[in-house]
Amino acid sequence: MPEELSVDAPAGDPAEDESTFRKQPVSFVRRSGRMSDAQERAWTELAPFYAFDVPRDVASTSVHPQARLVPSEVYGREAPLTVEIGSGQGHAIVSAAAAHPHNDYLAVEVFRAGLARTMLDADRAGAKNLRLVEANAPEVLETLLPEGAASEVWVFFPDPWHKARHNKRRLVKEGFGEIAGRALRDGGLLRLATDWEDYALQMREVLDADPFFERAFEGSDDPEQDWAPRFEGRVMTAFERKGLNTGRAIRDLTYRRVAR
Ligand SMILES: C[S@@+](CC[C@H](N)C(=O)[O-])C[C@H]1O[C@@H](n2cnc3c(N)ncnc32)[C@H](O)[C@@H]1O
Repeated sequence: MPEELSVDAPAGDPAEDESTFRKQPVSFVRRSGRMSDAQERAWTELAPFYAFDVPRDVASTSVHPQARLVPSEVYGREAPLTVEIGSGQGHAIVSAAAAHPHNDYLAVEVFRAGLARTMLDADRAGAKNLRLVEANAPEVLETLLPEGAASEVWVFFPDPWHKARHNKRRLVKEGFGEIAGRALRDGGLLRLATDWEDYALQMREVLDADPFFERAFEGSDDPEQDWAPRFEGRVMTAFERKGLNTGRAIRDLTYRRVAR
């Protein structure tokens, strides 16, 4: 969602979103978010290089179950791959891609204007090791990526869906470990951050209990302090700033994919 429009939880009526025809409710409400001329140009000029053309299934952000993104073909080399899901405007992933040219990066997002902004910034930064996928992230982890393709999966400030009746739309819930664990190589890292305490608690509870993952942080006997240190590769985004400005603490978590 565009920072200039809102950094709050998604608005809109979930009944009208793209859940239709899917087995699971999706974690987003698609908004049009008017694109600027520069963003429109980004689609025309930059998408042929940056955006992976996803074969669709039932909805416009779905992934056809037979579609595959083979990293060595897309990036033209073998390199550690980091996948950010819900990359927003792309600040974290463009900054990482520019700083680490020997690694590859994949931004997964359903918000078109955010993807356009990501391409423009990547182009400006000369980052050729980044690609974008406009699709529902769980489907990318579940089928689009080959098993074990990712070295890291990042989930920073996912939409909190904080009303109890919307909690089921959260991205990180029971079952998420299995799909993230499928996409990650053995020993690969799942990094998360949120400014919503009850979502942080849910993430920790779900992933502590997940057989695909073990903690990759020391933690503390004090449940209040039992979090990972801030990931140094995570740049400040409007969502983190908004959380801090409204007095919410930021909580990081890091989990390691156990050996298959
Ligand atoms: C609160 S924003 C955070 C963006 C970014 N990570 C940051 O920290 O600035 C959450 C983003 O996740 C995206 N999103 C939510 N569910 C998604 C899904 N199932 N697949 C892909 N993107 C999703 C939304 O479109 C939104 O841009």
